[in-house]
Amino acid sequence: MCGIVAYIGHRQAYPVIIKGLKRLEYRGYDSAGVALLNHGVKLYKKKGKVANLEESTLGRDLEAHIGIGHTRWATHGEPSDRNAHPHRSANGKLAMIHNGIIENYASLKQELIKKGYQFLSDTDTEVLLYFIEDIQKNNSSTLEEALRIALKRVVGAYVIVLIDQDNPDTLIAARKGSPLVIGIGKGEHFLASDASPIIEYTKEVVYVNDYEIAIIKPDELILKNLGNERQTPFIQKLDLELAAIEKGGYDHFMLKEIFEQPHTIYDCLRGRLDVAQGTITMSGIRNNMEQIKNANRILIIACGTSWHAGLVAEYVIEELCRIPVEVEYASEFRYRNPIIHKGDMIIAISQSGETADTLVAIERAKEQGAVILGIVNVVGSSISRISHAGAYTHAGPEIGVASTKAFTAQLTVLTMVALMIAKERATISHDRYIHLLNELNEVPEKVKHALENAEHIKAVALKYKDVSDALFLGRGYNFPIALEGALKLKEISYIHAEGYPAAEMKHGPIALVDESLPVVFVATKDTCHEKIISNIQEIKARKGKVIAVITEGDEIITGMADDVLPVPEADELIAPIISTIPLQLFSYYIGVAKGYDVDKPRNLAKSVTVE
Ligand code: F6R
Repeated sequence: MCGIVAYIGHRQAYPVIIKGLKRLEYRGYDSAGVALLNHGVKLYKKKGKVANLEESTLGRDLEAHIGIGHTRWATHGEPSDRNAHPHRSANGKLAMIHNGIIENYASLKQELIKKGYQFLSDTDTEVLLYFIEDIQKNNSSTLEEALRIALKRVVGAYVIVLIDQDNPDTLIAARKGSPLVIGIGKGEHFLASDASPIIEYTKEVVYVNDYEIAIIKPDELILKNLGNERQTPFIQKLDLELAAIEKGGYDHFMLKEIFEQPHTIYDCLRGRLDVAQGTITMSGIRNNMEQIKNANRILIIACGTSWHAGLVAEYVIEELCRIPVEVEYASEFRYRNPIIHKGDMIIAISQSGETADTLVAIERAKEQGAVILGIVNVVGSSISRISHAGAYTHAGPEIGVASTKAFTAQLTVLTMVALMIAKERATISHDRYIHLLNELNEVPEKVKHALENAEHIKAVALKYKDVSDALFLGRGYNFPIALEGALKLKEISYIHAEGYPAAEMKHGPIALVDESLPVVFVATKDTCHEKIISNIQEIKARKGKVIAVITEGDEIITGMADDVLPVPEADELIAPIISTIPLQLFSYYIGVAKGYDVDKPRNLAKSVTVE
């Protein structure tokens, strides 16, 4: 949440920062701003997207070789020019950007108001900046010293980057709980919330750790901890290509990412699944197999779409491995007093690897002795680093705010994990194991086939684009897919949608059904197929409109439904990876038809780094 970019070096800073902010807009787009240092601090900021900022700076003096930029997802203070970052210190010499939340900002603000400071914004960021400035003034200390003192009193999460008029060749940054990557060039440095603004300039990066301060000059990077001890920067090589973060001819990142799924699922399986040998190789899982296979219970912790992947995994793991599984919302788990037994295993699922609730929830569980497996997409992210072990989903950068390819990659990895455990525990027959390996192997081809129906799905979507509500129903393995379908529709098209277990609708939601309500059934052929046919009849009897995701050739449901979205046949355990595809496209086409920015839906941000 919130994207930060900074630059110091021989290039013009402004174009580097603006381009970087556009790449990070998925993290928030309530306002954008840039501060440049050239004979004093020059500040440009604007409510709305980065394009608004760019327009407002046309013809202005943007000459500078050092600068900081920010794209905001509002927490403290409404989206406005006034609350946009960067903020300037009271003496005008410092400017700062911030991603995170300063939880004790209110008490710090009171202290500063008593000292006569007047605030220009409602943000917690301005409070922290004035606090740093006040320490610098009172102690006659350097900015670095003042920052160290201030951060020892700060409660919350932050990445901050400062520029200082009195030190025009230095950027100072600090991190706790929010991500910060530093790109190392020749006589230049790039700072950003993730690697996407950096990749076209350099592949050498340093991921700053919590409680570290970075002092950055064009030719020098010094890392220190809050105790002022030098730390050795760990330089890593990025395994990312520029093409992966560009639209590649598609109208939207979301559409590109939906269509990438045959490849991303293939990449996820590649090097791991070997059907001929009958093996799955994932070293993070294999190396911890003793603990995993003997777990008394598995707790899955995640948020949003990743939580839906966890629900599918619950069904799959219980079926194949016979280990009890509980799926928890990270935000609930962290604030209650959960019972964690010795021998419990935690699986944390996260695309970004930075979701604040998931991160804190697993930190709590780790403190209580749980073993954490991270199923994460972003390599080097915080969750991947604090997990004991895990597996990457290898879906590549997901830039559309609504998660699509990361979800199917999560399902693929979780199914492989379940199969590995089941084999070790001998809770699966050899034939079923081999059958499921074959089924997994065929998923990329089946997803490709499901995507060939895009034009038909678009036509169905256009038919329903003006509805105000929708109900999504599924049973068994497809119940979480109904939840995910409803979430996608809400996010992208702002249509109110509910996901429900199909049989449970009789206990309440059926009261909503009339001739104007579309009911989307996820009804591929599985053990619940006949039951779900009865549920479809119940809706039809009340004149609801039925749209059904079906297995190709299912004439029974085709004969009953108003519209069908066919997908290739698959084993019921594997089917969710495929049945989610038409629902992603259905939401996408409705969102586009309604004229919404599907890559940046209102009020949302890709990486939820605040609780
Ligand atoms: C929905 C969506 C969100 C995320 C959630 C968790 O399309 O993208 O619901 O799934 O914010 O994010 P990660 O997976 O990054 O922890």
